[in-house]
Amino acid sequence: MDITFLLNGESVELRDVSPTATLLDWLREERGLTGTKEGCNEGDCGACTVMVTDGRGARALNACILFLPQLDGCAVRTVEGISAPDGTLHPVQQAMIDHHGSQCGFCTPGFIVSMAVAHLNGDRNHDDALAGNLCRCTGYAPIIRAAEAASEQPAPDWLKETPPASLGSKIPSGGLGGRQPPSLNAPETLDDLATACAARPDATLVAGATDVGLWVTKSLRDLDDVIFLNRCTELQQIEETDDRLRIGAGVTMDRVLAAVRDLHPSYAEMIRRYGSTQVRAAATIGGNIANGSPIGDNPPALIALGAILHLRAGDHCRNMPLEDFFIDYGKQDRAKGEFVEAVTIPRHAPGLKVYKLSKRFDQDISAVCGAFNITVSGGTVTEARIAFGGMAGTPKRAKAVEAALTGKPWSEASIRAAMGQMAKDYMPLSDMRASADYRLQAAENMLLRYWHEDQGIASNVLEVSA
Ligand SMILES: Cc1cc2nc3c(=O)[nH]c(=O)nc-3n(C[C@H](O)[C@H](O)[C@H](O)COP(=O)(O)OP(=O)(O)OC[C@H]3O[C@@H](n4cnc5c(N)ncnc54)[C@H](O)[C@@H]3O)c2cc1C
Ligand code: FES
Ligand code: FES
Repeated sequence: MDITFLLNGESVELRDVSPTATLLDWLREERGLTGTKEGCNEGDCGACTVMVTDGRGARALNACILFLPQLDGCAVRTVEGISAPDGTLHPVQQAMIDHHGSQCGFCTPGFIVSMAVAHLNGDRNHDDALAGNLCRCTGYAPIIRAAEAASEQPAPDWLKETPPASLGSKIPSGGLGGRQPPSLNAPETLDDLATACAARPDATLVAGATDVGLWVTKSLRDLDDVIFLNRCTELQQIEETDDRLRIGAGVTMDRVLAAVRDLHPSYAEMIRRYGSTQVRAAATIGGNIANGSPIGDNPPALIALGAILHLRAGDHCRNMPLEDFFIDYGKQDRAKGEFVEAVTIPRHAPGLKVYKLSKRFDQDISAVCGAFNITVSGGTVTEARIAFGGMAGTPKRAKAVEAALTGKPWSEASIRAAMGQMAKDYMPLSDMRASADYRLQAAENMLLRYWHEDQGIASNVLEVSA
């Protein structure tokens, strides 16, 4: 398959690219652009950060889990392309020198690219912008000082680029007829995507590749037929009505965050801690649902919101409450050839609170993620939708806890009685993130925290029951 993109301002055309060749390997091994470093090779450290510009603007992405075909029609800048062609340093580079932001220098190219993207986008929340870049020797204070100093300077013109319209569309976007496996497709419309999935029901769908990338770089898996979703703009739409938000499966988590920031601030705050800037710019909400992970962070919030999932196979669309999609560990209600098209949530849920519990604040997988959507009217609980991740083989509702609350007075006694029902809903596992007992206590205490917050009682420390 052939692809074309801009690399540091120059057009590149590649023929017969493997669907699972990563940008990082290609940059270092084929182009000799070794400024982009390999640290973890799994999206965690940010040493491989590159700037990718497409119709959505500039994003910082991890090159180690970015497949070359995802770049078709984009503009890519590595650290070598952050300074001007005449060697003039970018303001963030000069600021890193002035503020002593580098020691061994291994992490520095990744930081420079992340800082340059944030600088270009006018993003002054440096802690969030750099949460996906790890440094093991300088310490973050000088780096943040450098980012702050550089933000006073204007963005250099040489980074303000848009990929020319003539680029892209090298990958076939229509059906797969005539191509022998392993094959690749990158449909541009939902109809083409449905046709491609029906023709190759066993094909691997690749959205942001923040899961699939690791199958390749860590599990060393070969993929046969691959269907890339990133060119299907219909899958990336967010449709708003008076009372609903329909979010396309291909919407990345940074855009979900922006869409729910005012509507569901607690959900948005959880997403702020979802992976890192680089991960949120790649990972899609559809991928986070379709992978069926019991520790995916979106499903608990979406289930508590009463989300409806939209699936499509061929011309046939079906809808279901999201909680029904998760049948068992590793088993979802999705037929071969069927794909997740969108998820719909209500715009209004003033009682929604989402709590992500993980060892680190940023860039960590949840030990427990709890979502609570409780409606109280006239001092009585009229509806309770509560869901957890990390407590069972699937994201799952707390039906016994909900039943214990519904119809009861909104009081601490009701909360404590409902906490006692948690063990009926869940028998969590012990693993490296948390023991079963810890998970159960944490889940109970999240409900108490919800109550405390509602009553204006500070509860920074979760209560541990006897
Ligand atoms: C460093 C790092 C940090 C992370 N942090 C978090 C975190 O904090 N919280 C969290 O929940 N997850 C986290 N993840 C996991 C991952 O980001 C999510 O699961 C992500 O949402 C997957 O989306 P994607 O678009 O990258 O999916 P992909 O990797 O492209 O695909 C994932 C799976 O879904 C399938 N798929 C994708 N889209 C569709 C569709 N539309 N229809 C049917 N099937 C589809 C694919 O075939 C594949 O099986 C992290 C991952 C990394 C690498
Ligand atoms: S090498 Fe660590 S994020 Fe890519
Ligand atoms: S300067 Fe050494 S890891 Fe950051």
